[in-house]
Amino acid sequence: MTLPFKVDAWRLATDRTPRAELAGAVNWLAVGDGRIAGDNTDGAGLVADLTGNLGIALAGRRILLVGAGGASRGVLAPLLALAPARLVVANRTEARAVDLAGDFAGARPGRRRRPRRLAGDFDLVVNATSASTHGKAIDLPRSLFAPGATAYDMAYGPAARPFLDTARSAGARPKTAWACSSSRPPSPSGYGAESGPEPHR
Ligand SMILES: NC(=O)c1ccc[n+]([C@@H]2O[C@H](COP(=O)([O-])OP(=O)(O)OC[C@H]3O[C@@H](n4cnc5c(N)ncnc54)[C@H](OP(=O)(O)O)[C@@H]3O)[C@@H](O)[C@H]2O)c1
Repeated sequence: MTLPFKVDAWRLATDRTPRAELAGAVNWLAVGDGRIAGDNTDGAGLVADLTGNLGIALAGRRILLVGAGGASRGVLAPLLALAPARLVVANRTEARAVDLAGDFAGARPGRRRRPRRLAGDFDLVVNATSASTHGKAIDLPRSLFAPGATAYDMAYGPAARPFLDTARSAGARPKTAWACSSSRPPSPSGYGAESGPEPHR
């Protein structure tokens, strides 16, 4: 399952894995025996890519997650489990960021009328919006990126270029995802474990 149906798919599932239950979104449905099982591998895939493939330690780091759709829902709990110093959720429609952050203890919403909370010092900025999918850049101040920060787009391939170009010009290290959605349950280790698109770095 992919955008924008992950939350709808979660509602459709009659049985859900604990991580899918927590996320409120699923990217896998398995149908059989009159039941529909749902799982969410997005978070495990993202974490495996960030920490395993890219070697980024997230404990004590400051993370900005941009987007409040199904992908963000899936990755929030696994990111929080790595004990970042701060995890802020920002979204074009602010109310959705407030709702999403409210569902996960430890996450905070970014608010436009208090921009200083979003100023300047994130070690990792994850673009989990679908703007890239539509070939659009997201409007982010360069000051969000701490020196040496990593900018990571959950979209893979050329679609990620507008966000990564912005990040690069702000001095951040641009990285694109390997397909977390192609990692299959019950193998949550994710990226690279199954066939899928080659990573574009
Ligand atoms: N690497 C992987 O395997 C993997 C896994 C999962 C997802 N993804 C990628 O993650 C992205 C998001 O997927 P999703 O399922 O979360 O989609 P979704 O549920 O449709 O959510 C879309 C999100 O993007 C925001 N958005 C859309 N256009 C925007 C724009 N022009 N400027 C700023 N924000 C914009 C939306 O904001 P509003 O609330 O304001 O509409 C919303 O927060 C997609 O690119 C998808 O391909 C990749």
